[in-house]
Amino acid sequence: MTTLISQKNQLSGVATLISVDRRMQKPIYLQIYESFRSRIVRRELRPGQLVPSTRQLARELRVSRFPVLNAYAQLLAEGYFESRTGAGTFIASSLPEEPATKSRKAVAKPAPRLRAIATRAAILPRYQNPSGTNGLGPFQVGHPELEAFPLKTWSKLVARHSRNMRLGDLLYADAMGLKSLREVIAVYLRTSRAVRCEAEQIMIVGGSQQALDITARVLFDAGTSVWVEEPGYWLAHHVLKSAECEVVPVPVDSEGLDVAAGINLSPQARAVFVAPSHQYPLGVTMSATRRFQLLEWAERAGSWIIEDDYDSEYRYESAPISSLQGLDTNSRVIYIGTFSKVLFPSLRLGYVVIPPDLVDRFAVVRQAADLCPPPINQAVLTEFIREGHFARHIRKMRQVYAERRRVLVREIEREIPACTIVGGEAGMHLTILIDCEVSDTEIAAKAAERKLWLSALSLSYVGDAARRGFVLGFGNARASEIPRAVRLLKKLLKA
Ligand SMILES: Cc1ncc(COP(=O)(O)O)c(C=O)c1O
Repeated sequence: MTTLISQKNQLSGVATLISVDRRMQKPIYLQIYESFRSRIVRRELRPGQLVPSTRQLARELRVSRFPVLNAYAQLLAEGYFESRTGAGTFIASSLPEEPATKSRKAVAKPAPRLRAIATRAAILPRYQNPSGTNGLGPFQVGHPELEAFPLKTWSKLVARHSRNMRLGDLLYADAMGLKSLREVIAVYLRTSRAVRCEAEQIMIVGGSQQALDITARVLFDAGTSVWVEEPGYWLAHHVLKSAECEVVPVPVDSEGLDVAAGINLSPQARAVFVAPSHQYPLGVTMSATRRFQLLEWAERAGSWIIEDDYDSEYRYESAPISSLQGLDTNSRVIYIGTFSKVLFPSLRLGYVVIPPDLVDRFAVVRQAADLCPPPINQAVLTEFIREGHFARHIRKMRQVYAERRRVLVREIEREIPACTIVGGEAGMHLTILIDCEVSDTEIAAKAAERKLWLSALSLSYVGDAARRGFVLGFGNARASEIPRAVRLLKKLLKA
């Protein structure tokens, strides 16, 4: 029912159209409230105007007084109405005369004011999820074999944990992460990666990406120089650029990052971002000499080493290489690890091993953005590790990937002998260097049309790309499909 309320005496000149519709599910008081509010916002009711008494309005609308009282109480509480003792209830006189929407239309909109880096970020390539399974297969980089993941076991643990949840599990948790998970990770890192650490130094994060973002917030000011490997991990470049660091590309050769070149380029850089166990994308293992040079530089310059150890569980011709952090006696290394490669990427769980003096700084900075990591997946992962599924999965996958890598190397050597293979000793990718007139990004775009996922090497450079080639992931390429994929690659290179 729609009622035109016109007040004859004090309300003369005030015509308020208030609607209620009894067929609607919406409560009557809410309809009255919204009706008033929308007319006030559109300035159909003007600031300072008298409104009908609740009794009058209830009579006009033929409703009981309760919903009208409720609506008026709400409008008073939100400041749309004001009541003056003895005089009645009015539209708040302090409301601006012109509707906000009208003035906004009339004036040209100012450009959105953002931090300069956020504006520039729009021109950076955005990481694209390869739309579910469409993008999986040869040679998608960075994806483990998901079909071999013990999903049933994982789901059982999720179900068991969900059934046994207690009220305490619903509270805010420790900003450093679940104690039980940090303890099992500490044992794993000490025994498998020769990392020197206690559980108290470990912070659980949402993957390496968040680890690096928090690290950058703790360590860097705008303009801080940071060495990165050239070529290197482009998503790490994004974090450093977002922190307004001066990214200093330092060449990588067959021994890893060229420390002397770094010292030449920027001796006082505040930090270096490196993947010494399995450099991305060239796959080089940093030599012992370079490791000691890097540690010595960091000690002398008071700089930090950020070690990205993302997939070194998988090494095929020797035991996994010990971490650089394990050689450090001066607490200069911030060690970052992830479960994205050994388990699955959407898990978004990783960890940072923080030098003891910095633990509180990291915790405070983390809390500024994200009070604590969600405990549920952490609890499931703790059980997954404790019950031995984690170690079993790594053992199994090492064999699966070793076979894929063997087939891939054999096929490349047979079909494309002119290219050079680098870095196939570990992890889930290798890189081929090509001599070619056409840009590698163009070839990669053509290959994607044929569902062959090539990652162009040139995209991993901060400066001009010195070499062309492709990073080929074999984590998600079945051994049986590799020969056909390599033949297709050969065809694309010839064309
Ligand atoms: C060099 C490198 N570091 C780290 C990661 C892992 O990132 P996240 O833990 O954020 O999934 C990747 C993933 O592809 C990588 O290639």
